[in-house]
Amino acid sequence: MTAQIIDGKQIAGTLKDKIAAAITERSHAGLPVPGLATVLVGNDPPSQIYIKNKIRTCQELGIHSFSHTFPEETTQAALEELVLALNDDPLVHGILIQLPLPPHLDTFRLLSRINPQKDVDGIHPINAGLLSRKEGTPWFIPCTPAGILYLIQTVTPDISGLEAVVIGRSAIVGMPTAQLLCRHDATVTICHSKTRQLPDICRRGDIVVAAVGKSHLVKAAWIKPGAIVIDVGINRTPDLADPRGYHITGDTDFEAIRQTAKAITPVPGGVGPMTIAMLMQNTLTAAIRI
Ligand code: GUN
Repeated sequence: MTAQIIDGKQIAGTLKDKIAAAITERSHAGLPVPGLATVLVGNDPPSQIYIKNKIRTCQELGIHSFSHTFPEETTQAALEELVLALNDDPLVHGILIQLPLPPHLDTFRLLSRINPQKDVDGIHPINAGLLSRKEGTPWFIPCTPAGILYLIQTVTPDISGLEAVVIGRSAIVGMPTAQLLCRHDATVTICHSKTRQLPDICRRGDIVVAAVGKSHLVKAAWIKPGAIVIDVGINRTPDLADPRGYHITGDTDFEAIRQTAKAITPVPGGVGPMTIAMLMQNTLTAAIRI
């Protein structure tokens, strides 16, 4: 079997077109333009690129973006003060604090200061808690997990009863992805750095989500023939032939896995574009609710 390549760029493009149309319709009806505040602390190069892409996409879709950039040594108090001001700002419907933050800052405490109704990242403890309860309805679902589910459902709309293996347990991707798939009635196993027999567990998966940040970790022999493989990795692999000095690789051995899987996401052009599209969708949703 040669795998279907799940074209996240194209799927995200269609979604963004719909979001842009909805925003135009709102403005014709005299309704407020959605507003997204982004917060970037320090000089982490990937974070700078992600924020630039998010702001550019806001502009493309007609969302107001309010960009706040702070030096590495910024204090917790200054950031908490900003978040409280953004909570009160009627032009700001969504707040996104780019992670990771420098180690001297208390990330959990800062995220907890965001108004959960403006938490378009779905990472406030209330939203994270509601996601973990099947009867709960979070205000927002985290963007990358929402994008992952969307991509899976383009291949298999009903994942009920399927075995899903999620490799990685981060607060922003692995854990909420596992919870989201569980809410959709998949049987979910979460693997992490202490997991034993990772290849054996992976081979059980009808769906495998790799979100560890280790280039080419997941091998073809770990994948059940016919599985859906979602690669969340964005790893910088040194490459002197590339003008940037690196190229981006995923967490899976894409070329080998595509010979046996049912479907696989490429890196780049798979999950990455969906994360941004879902952020735009969440920001529009936040504006609609107010
Ligand atoms: N860093 C990497 N991915 C994300 C994301 O989806 N949201 C935030 N806030 N930070 C990130």
